[in-house]
Amino acid sequence: MPNRTLLIAGNWKMNNNVAEAAKLADELAQALPEVPAGVEVLVCPPTIDITTVHDRIQAAPIALGAQNVYWEAKGAFTGESSCDMLKSAGCTYCIIGHSERRDYFHETDESLEVREAGTYVEHVVNQVKAGLAGLEITCPKQVVVAYEPIWAIGTGKTATAEDAQEVCGAIRETLKEMFGEELANGIRVLYGGSAKPGNIAELVAKPDVDGALVGGASLKAADFASMVVKAGE
Ligand code: 13P
Repeated sequence: MPNRTLLIAGNWKMNNNVAEAAKLADELAQALPEVPAGVEVLVCPPTIDITTVHDRIQAAPIALGAQNVYWEAKGAFTGESSCDMLKSAGCTYCIIGHSERRDYFHETDESLEVREAGTYVEHVVNQVKAGLAGLEITCPKQVVVAYEPIWAIGTGKTATAEDAQEVCGAIRETLKEMFGEELANGIRVLYGGSAKPGNIAELVAKPDVDGALVGGASLKAADFASMVVKAGE
């Protein structure tokens, strides 16, 4: 059984001005002076808050990520940030292609009908193939895949752990086809969609669910810290 470090990642989405972000970051640093063995913690604030959050969490075992990035290195791309800029601000992760970006910002490929049509596994497999096509990876830590059924995002309706495993397992098989067994076995596959303290343990107990991408519950330090602790138990 591959031994993957679980990742509990908070996606703050478009929440928290700079003062609010500083407060939440301070609370998180205080709540998580250490994290359980086998668990990694990440927060992804809005771009405007990144530097502030970086300053507040740098002594804590909490990694920092962005929510979006543009692929060009620099230039006339108003409103965008490059990988180098995010890295220079302390980010080591970035969410790419979140369903909200696809839905509201035309990053394409999203469908509400697929679950009802019963083709969701095939749909997700095709998304993974398209999303990661041409990617060259040498180390499994370079990629994390998050499976978020759109009907579960922000709705309070969490997929059952069995549903999450079904799709995360299919994602793993796809990663094996694309990158080979060894790399695929080291890539984290997360579940997202109303993940919270009450359901994180059963989700991460599944063999192919390697953590969670957490929206709403990541905005409360106590809830998020509790998820980290429960994931590690
Ligand atoms: P919620 O946890 O609020 O459902 O959001 C999930 C999500 O979209 C995380 O990226």
